[in-house]
Amino acid sequence: MKWLQRKEKVSPLDGLTIPAHIGIIMDGNGRWARKRGLPRKAGHSAGAKTFMDICKYCNRIGVQYLTVYAFSTENWKRPQKEVDALMDLFKRYLGDASQYKDENVKTRIIGDRTPLDGEINALIDNLEAESKDCTGLTLNIAVNYGGRDEIVHAARALVRQGLSPEQIDEQSLERCLYTAGQPDPDIILRPSGEKRLSNFMIWQAAYSEFIFMDVLWPDFTPAHIDEAIREYNHRNRRFGGV
Ligand code: FPP
Repeated sequence: MKWLQRKEKVSPLDGLTIPAHIGIIMDGNGRWARKRGLPRKAGHSAGAKTFMDICKYCNRIGVQYLTVYAFSTENWKRPQKEVDALMDLFKRYLGDASQYKDENVKTRIIGDRTPLDGEINALIDNLEAESKDCTGLTLNIAVNYGGRDEIVHAARALVRQGLSPEQIDEQSLERCLYTAGQPDPDIILRPSGEKRLSNFMIWQAAYSEFIFMDVLWPDFTPAHIDEAIREYNHRNRRFGGV
């Protein structure tokens, strides 16, 4: 009886709702490096590889939006050597537009680009233009991003548009956020054992499910995404209702 011998391949996500938008605070690179006696920048390099693997995996399983926290408005306070290493990594990963295009990933940078150097800004322009027609995952990479800064930026835009106080509401403000037109994240995931939002998507996270995991970001694998999706499917989202 052939059918009894055949092992059906069951996907770990069969029957589960795939979240439309996942936000990830990629944390733990420094601790990962320290545990191995390596410089912090080695942790960031390993974290960048994980970022690419997770981005491809989320695209493959049908996540529509993925937002990753790559550099916060506060991260400039780190030693210059580390900031430089991170900027070099961004250049490497933003410079290869074909990597995203081949995967059909539409890539956008969210955050205040003003203090980023001319080379990075040119790479971002090119990457966004090259991938703008991709129809798979939309990837938001948050660089020099802060949730409070984003809200201030939106408030200024509303003033510039000349809106009266009565015209300002949640919808008009939302239209001025970096994530305008995108659904709010269903899940905000933070590895590394820390349980904070750290100024990440503070407006958009109003009804997100928070999932904290005890794994350092460079050790994070697609199986952790599966685990988070299973957990998400057990949560009872009420959005303020009963
Ligand atoms: C937080 O870990 C991580 C960062 C501030 C940088 C995140 C950057 C990457 C994952 C690599 C580059 C990304 C792209 C998009 C190419 P931490 O250094 O604060 O870790 P620690 O808390 O263990 O010290």
